[in-house]
Amino acid sequence: MSVIDEVKQRIDILEVVSQYVKLTKSGRTFRGLCPFHSEKHPSFFVYPERQSWHCFGACNTGGDVFSFIMKKEGIDFGEALRLLAQRAGIALPSRLEPSAKRDEQERLYQINEVAAQYFHNLLLNSPAGEKARSYVASRGLSPETITSFQLGFSPNSWEALKQHLMERGYTESELLPAGLVVETEAGGTHDRFRNRLMFPISDVKGRITGFGARALDDSLPKYLNSPQTPIFDKSSSLYGINLATAAIRQQNMVVIVEGYMDVITAHQNGFNNVVASMGTSVTYREEDKDFWRAYNEPAAREARRIGVERSAEVSEKQINILRRMTRNVVLALDADAAGEEAMLRAVGYENTLDAEVKVIILPRGKDPDDVIKKDTKTWQKLLEKALPVVDYTFNMVTSNLDLTTAKDKSLAVDKLLPIIAEIKDPVRQAHYLQKLAHLVNVAERKLEAALKGIKPSPSRRRVEEPKPEAVAQALRPVFSSPVEEYCLALLLQRPELKDYPQHPLPEYFQNSENHEIFIAWQQVSDLSSLRDKLDPAIWEHLDYLLTKSLPPNQIEEKYADAVLRLREGFLRSLATKREAALALEAELGGTAAELAKLEEQGIEISLQLGEVFSQKRRKVRSEGAEK
Ligand code: UTP
Ligand code: MN
Repeated sequence: MSVIDEVKQRIDILEVVSQYVKLTKSGRTFRGLCPFHSEKHPSFFVYPERQSWHCFGACNTGGDVFSFIMKKEGIDFGEALRLLAQRAGIALPSRLEPSAKRDEQERLYQINEVAAQYFHNLLLNSPAGEKARSYVASRGLSPETITSFQLGFSPNSWEALKQHLMERGYTESELLPAGLVVETEAGGTHDRFRNRLMFPISDVKGRITGFGARALDDSLPKYLNSPQTPIFDKSSSLYGINLATAAIRQQNMVVIVEGYMDVITAHQNGFNNVVASMGTSVTYREEDKDFWRAYNEPAAREARRIGVERSAEVSEKQINILRRMTRNVVLALDADAAGEEAMLRAVGYENTLDAEVKVIILPRGKDPDDVIKKDTKTWQKLLEKALPVVDYTFNMVTSNLDLTTAKDKSLAVDKLLPIIAEIKDPVRQAHYLQKLAHLVNVAERKLEAALKGIKPSPSRRRVEEPKPEAVAQALRPVFSSPVEEYCLALLLQRPELKDYPQHPLPEYFQNSENHEIFIAWQQVSDLSSLRDKLDPAIWEHLDYLLTKSLPPNQIEEKYADAVLRLREGFLRSLATKREAALALEAELGGTAAELAKLEEQGIEISLQLGEVFSQKRRKVRSEGAEK
């Protein structure tokens, strides 16, 4: 699926438009005051089923979610795509970034790579690295592990890394956005990571995006991480993913732990399908400014910050990365953290994943690093006993209850029903409802009625995610328009059609990619320069159209026919939309002027449709005559 389709699947036009226009629902449509022209009477409509919009007022135009954002924000297609992708939490492939941005990012990866090599070399060879060497030895890390994770040591110096990088031609103004140096009050810069054990963090492709850095003693913060940079976002990173991908695919399962050391120890002991969410916080974002501030403040503040930052959460983005590799996700949870809140969240992950999530609960006070190091068999057993999150919750809730008593029955229902309500998959939801009914010996339909009263509460949404419920939602269909595509494919593959007298109007192309391609086609005289006129995100669609198979002969007739059908389709959809608008207007007692206007538009549409039909009849007749 193209990234454009992916965005369309995840974005709901209704939600996007609602951010600009106050919409009221009426039947299957929504309407409000048009955001593109000033009006007192609402003539702007949104059609959720088709994921489209139309203004019957002064604009008399419409389209899909892309055209809405383009028009509203005054931006081009590429910018609209980036904006919507960001909202949907979809990472655009870097080839779709504007080239200046791409170059900048490339450079940042390079800087990180050089820095990681520098740190790594110091850990292995420098006299100053002795302390760090004995630290990693004390934690039982083998030389192979140190190499494969490219662990390093940042010297206790304000400028060592900075100097090293500047000698290699990188400028201070590049080190800052890389997050490797920190701006001082005096306006200078100094190394961010000093006297720490360095953990390079890589993306799926193995590019180093940032660093985690552990103190070698118990000073705070225990771990210092790279700030948010153009290539590093902690909440969409998974530590160890570069080394785990093969095993995850092979075993068709991933285990998510919390910490750097957990991943490293797991891998060292042959559990290669393990990655860390790095204690991803939802409430704390390391926005640069705050970070600098916190960084320079006393330990107490620091400790509080860490308190916030530490929470066993996995972000939607992290789940989305893993989803491409496997649907079998196992969460390793702290005994302390494994409460009902955590379970509710885990059900949220299931919804994103569209599959069951299993949990293993660690012995109290232990993390996977401790468990695995002590005895790999214990870890193995925990994995074997991993339970689907909802089953686990059932056990957890009911273990202290006496389900023969009325009081405990209702307690069980009170605690478990909200969890069941959160399950999106209807089959699995029904399964657990049944299970609960059996458990408390209450008729299932009674529970079902109670379930209806529980709305998965929006407060459970995580602040970090712009649209979690839409991400988790069943994917909406992407409307393709075969006629639009056929017509464009003809134009693109048969340059001679450029001279044909009758072309479609741009507005016939309701799909924004098709619309963009048609406009570009109108502007170029030579098809070879078409690609340059289009945003790279559309190239995939362009290539699809360029290679679509077409009939070998009677191209002009086929084209004329396609244009006619395109026009007919456009008018018909307009007529349907207008009828909906008119019905609504009548129902709500619209002004006479408004009604008259819609009527007038209706007449115009009918006239045009009449034209289409008579052309079609003419065509049929002439074809008949030929035979
Ligand atoms: P832990 O405090 O459990 O550390 O934080 P750990 O992984 O067990 O590390 P060791 O064994 O003490 O060396 C779990 C994870 O939370 C993030 C890190 O990713 C860490 O691995 N974290 C924790 C931070 O980012 N900053 C902190 O200050 C603390
Ligand atoms: Mn630990």
